[in-house]
Amino acid sequence: MSEPKKEGIFKSFKNLPIDSIPKTVLVAVVLCLFCSMVVSFAAVNLKSFQLANKVRDKQKNILQVAGLYYEGINIEQSFASFEPMIVDINEGLYSDKFNPQEFDDFSAANDPMLSEALIDDPASIGRRTNYATVYLLKNKDESVDKIILPIHGYGLWSTLYGFVALEEDGNEIYGLQFYQHAETPGLGGEVDNPKWRAQWAGKKVKNQDGEIMIQVAKIPGVSEHHIDALAGATLTSNGVHNLVRFWLGESGFDKFLVNFKNGTT
Ligand SMILES: Cc1cc2nc3c(=O)[nH]c(=O)nc-3n(C[C@H](O)[C@H](O)[C@H](O)COP(=O)(O)O)c2cc1C
Repeated sequence: MSEPKKEGIFKSFKNLPIDSIPKTVLVAVVLCLFCSMVVSFAAVNLKSFQLANKVRDKQKNILQVAGLYYEGINIEQSFASFEPMIVDINEGLYSDKFNPQEFDDFSAANDPMLSEALIDDPASIGRRTNYATVYLLKNKDESVDKIILPIHGYGLWSTLYGFVALEEDGNEIYGLQFYQHAETPGLGGEVDNPKWRAQWAGKKVKNQDGEIMIQVAKIPGVSEHHIDALAGATLTSNGVHNLVRFWLGESGFDKFLVNFKNGTT
């Protein structure tokens, strides 16, 4: 009984003009379904490539901040000189709770079980992770040449993510580099300018009394601790000042760096 009715609907649909609303809607729906299938297929199949690229990009940034990156370098091979270690920031000690190869610093920073809400929050990050991956650049004799620490904090428009490389004394800066931010190109975006970044090399984080002295400021300070603020971008400069002091200070890696220097990590 219902068969002829179905045929009737199909026939009357078929007889509709090509630009009728039902036919237009049908084409749009089919097109949407097809496109979403293509996108889903691509997303699923390219996920492993995306993850591999993410890892590669991180390795490249670490090589860059340690002054070891140049065009054409075999990133994976060069990165083998770095040993990733998980640091318990509160204890200032290495932790074997997590596998450094698999630990996700981004997730940990937002996980209430692995991070703590900040009351004093100069870097404007809301929460601070309790565990972080640090990278030790090893010499051939296994001694540490450089310590690479992850840092992040708010500038004017965005959170800047980067690394600071310290010499083996844990006090002299070798380099600083941000790999992700959305500050204005030509203003706050000048944090990426190699000339500005070059100022960081050789600067001392603390003075002889162990006070944190590194500063990014317009007004010149003690030269061995002073970085010139970016022209026309005082707010981003203030953000960098605050985040660097936060991560190298007592709420950040200070305990670890003191222990590292004393050989008690
Ligand atoms: C469109 C626009 C984008 C800006 N982007 C930045 C920025 O990324 N970082 C920053 O510090 N200041 C930025 N500024 C300027 C700030 O509003 C502010 O004037 C500046 O940080 C003050 O620095 P100065 O004292 O060196 O001039 C921007 C201003 C405008 C109008």
